[in-house]
Amino acid sequence: VSQKIGIIGAGNVGGVLGTRWAKSGHTVVFGSRKPESEEIKILVSGAGATASNGTIAQAVSASDVLLLSTPWPAAEEALKSAGDLSGKILIDATNPVRPQLDGLLLGNMTSGGEQVAAWAPEAKVVKAFNTVGNNVMANPEFSAGKVAMFYCGDDAEAKRTVASLIGELGFDPLDAGPLTQARLLEPFALLWISLALKYGYSREIAFEFLRR
Ligand SMILES: NC(=O)c1ccc[n+]([C@@H]2O[C@H](COP(=O)([O-])OP(=O)(O)OC[C@H]3O[C@@H](n4cnc5c(N)ncnc54)[C@H](OP(=O)(O)O)[C@@H]3O)[C@@H](O)[C@H]2O)c1
Repeated sequence: VSQKIGIIGAGNVGGVLGTRWAKSGHTVVFGSRKPESEEIKILVSGAGATASNGTIAQAVSASDVLLLSTPWPAAEEALKSAGDLSGKILIDATNPVRPQLDGLLLGNMTSGGEQVAAWAPEAKVVKAFNTVGNNVMANPEFSAGKVAMFYCGDDAEAKRTVASLIGELGFDPLDAGPLTQARLLEPFALLWISLALKYGYSREIAFEFLRR
């Protein structure tokens, strides 16, 4: 199914995912505070005919599925500028990390995902794409297996849509349960970040999920 996807924050993550979805035939609007910037124009031309640029409000009103991919400190303001989010699927890829990337600003008994849902109560929030680096989002191919991509949320239909958008990009979509599971997916992102940036594994790493 071809989706209408709006990107809220077309940076490292939004740029890569929006481009890959546009290239697989979805209609993508890259939402930016500076939609006419050279950066955004280059992004749109690289993403092909089904991609365009706009303000965040334009990206939202044109779309049924939204990707929240701003830095955490900008998320609340970006959602405020988004306009009516009623009934829209809001994929939350953010991580509420400390600027030093050495911990989370909130967690344990709450999560960024739940905070996003509180800021956007009319949207169907699905946490996803927060647990691997944007380089792995650009290319999830490893010599063996598929990269695990956990997602969680409270709306079953929204989760099915997101699972299919995850699978199309070449990941193994794994339903981790309700949105409260973002309490676990956000620190899990820190495991990837710390191994990649601090403990010598490089960014070319990912986790696979085994079952029997
Ligand atoms: N980078 C990764 O590998 C990675 C992986 C997983 C999850 N994440 C999470 O995904 C999110 C995005 O990461 P990123 O690396 O893609 O970030 P980024 O490139 O630094 O920022 C994304 C975009 O957010 C927009 N933005 C910044 N401040 C804003 C504001 N006040 N209001 C509205 N938009 C604003 C900017 O777009 P404009 O200037 O065009 O408006 C910027 O290009 C973060 O929460 C991060 O923790 C990152």
